[in-house]
Amino acid sequence: MAQHDIGAIEDFEIDRPTSAEAGETEIMVIRRGDTVLAMTHACPHYGLPLSGGHLDGDRLICPFHHACFDVSTGHQLEPPGKGDLRRYDVSVMDGRVIVEVPEGADPHPAPAHVRRGADARRVVIAGSGTAANACAFMLRDRGFEGEVEMISPDPALPYDRTLLSKAVLAGGDGPRPLTTVSQDALDARDIVLSEGRLASVDAEAGGITLAGGQTRDFDALLVATGGEAKRLDLPGADLPGVHTLRSRAEAEQIAEAAGGVRRAILVGGGFIGLEVALSLAKRDIEVHVVMREAVPLARIVGERIGRAIMAEHEEKGVVFHPEAGLSSLEGDGTLSGIRLRDGTTIDAELAILAVGVRPATAIEGLPTEENGAISVADDLSVPGLRGVWAAGDIALAPTPWGRVRIEHWRVAQQHGQRAARAILGERVASLGVPFFWTALARQYRYLGHAEGWDDIRFDGAPENGGDFTAYYIKDDRVMALMGAGRDAELAATHARMIREGGPLPA
Ligand SMILES: Cc1cc2nc3c(=O)[nH]c(=O)nc-3n(C[C@H](O)[C@H](O)[C@H](O)COP(=O)(O)OP(=O)(O)OC[C@H]3O[C@@H](n4cnc5c(N)ncnc54)[C@H](O)[C@@H]3O)c2cc1C
Ligand code: FES
Repeated sequence: MAQHDIGAIEDFEIDRPTSAEAGETEIMVIRRGDTVLAMTHACPHYGLPLSGGHLDGDRLICPFHHACFDVSTGHQLEPPGKGDLRRYDVSVMDGRVIVEVPEGADPHPAPAHVRRGADARRVVIAGSGTAANACAFMLRDRGFEGEVEMISPDPALPYDRTLLSKAVLAGGDGPRPLTTVSQDALDARDIVLSEGRLASVDAEAGGITLAGGQTRDFDALLVATGGEAKRLDLPGADLPGVHTLRSRAEAEQIAEAAGGVRRAILVGGGFIGLEVALSLAKRDIEVHVVMREAVPLARIVGERIGRAIMAEHEEKGVVFHPEAGLSSLEGDGTLSGIRLRDGTTIDAELAILAVGVRPATAIEGLPTEENGAISVADDLSVPGLRGVWAAGDIALAPTPWGRVRIEHWRVAQQHGQRAARAILGERVASLGVPFFWTALARQYRYLGHAEGWDDIRFDGAPENGGDFTAYYIKDDRVMALMGAGRDAELAATHARMIREGGPLPA
């Protein structure tokens, strides 16, 4: 065990996370009065530095995608990412801070967990995506020794869906691994991953049937089937060369099809469409975005930010066709272009339909709303269906922001973890604060949730790449914040929203 003198204690500001070198290991140091905590500096999510995060009591919020940690133990409290922070032994001698770093120690130890034991109960999880995995892992982390089976039609090991529109399409290997959960990690927890598609649920009998007719009994069922990319009911929408993007296989098909393509059409001006547009533009493809709205994302983030994002895309060479209706996709055997309702034609060899997502809930025996969502109680149980929970993109859940269905990575993980605890009979205070990020021409982060607002107040200006925070105000409450270059402020406001249990006074 090597001991490292990392400096004088008075050089460390109280309660300010700071990075330090302990030999060859970069660590994070937090001085608490006369004592000092030392732990891993890299966030277990994407390995980014945690020292720019916000510390609120013992809770540290990562400034990038808002994973939360308890610095007194190193345990991860909230997603994304998996793994705790390794705590290192620290002593203060003659005013010097001495840290002991064991050689070869995993900087992100897996949380304590169990394997299958004598418990005869059986939890079945439909899906192997974000919410599904979070639930399966949390069941084992909380000591559940019954059977855990994830069943999904997607045969791939669980992967980071958020990278599909970013690194995967931009080409090259990308800096982060796409697969998020190894077979070893599943095996170490006796989590079974099977191929199959949930077709019907009989909650009374505690059983499900898969599309191929196979059946399973369950004591608890989590439905975490996510969304299906919508297709368009237009001539030519099924031509080769026309794609949608939801799964790893679809992303790999688009990435391959993009090789040698001169021009691509993105239909839809939402987050995924805009991310894909930039990724393809990075590959020197001329990208045209065809959208119904005048300004992309205006309904979600407001017109001013939408315009700023549009200008950033235009700088990268993306061409927009606002307020444009698509009339057909053209081609003889394979896509050769598109036609707009005003008669304009655009030649292109590749088109991606990014026109929204429908909850993947065409499953017999599940009550759905008109848009396919499943209404859940605040513990994510499905009212009226004994032993059935629903989580992630499909769940319409009560929150301090209203009854909302949110299609975001971190929220789906929060749901999965909460559902696991509810299945085990634990009471958990709340679903947590919603948060998402998007990687466009720069990183934008969004905290809270606003489906409408009376006013958007700006601190800073989003135009010309300026740092800014936008506050979405409804009924004198700050429902949400969006920012770029304001990571510390968003993390600090996140801590306030946790403390106050929801939106903040304006
Ligand atoms: C390209 C792309 C980029 C994104 N980027 C971001 C981002 O930058 N930031 C962000 O916050 N969010 C992003 N998201 C959204 C985020 O990925 C989703 O909100 C999140 O994955 C939802 O998790 P989920 O568990 O509900 O669904 P999913 O992760 O989609 O998992 C659903 C699972 O259910 C399976 N399934 C489907 N039907 C059935 C069935 N009948 N029976 C059994 N299994 C079934 C699927 O195969 C899959 O395994 C992105 C999404 C996409 C598609
Ligand atoms: S790098 Fe910390 S949450 Fe993503």
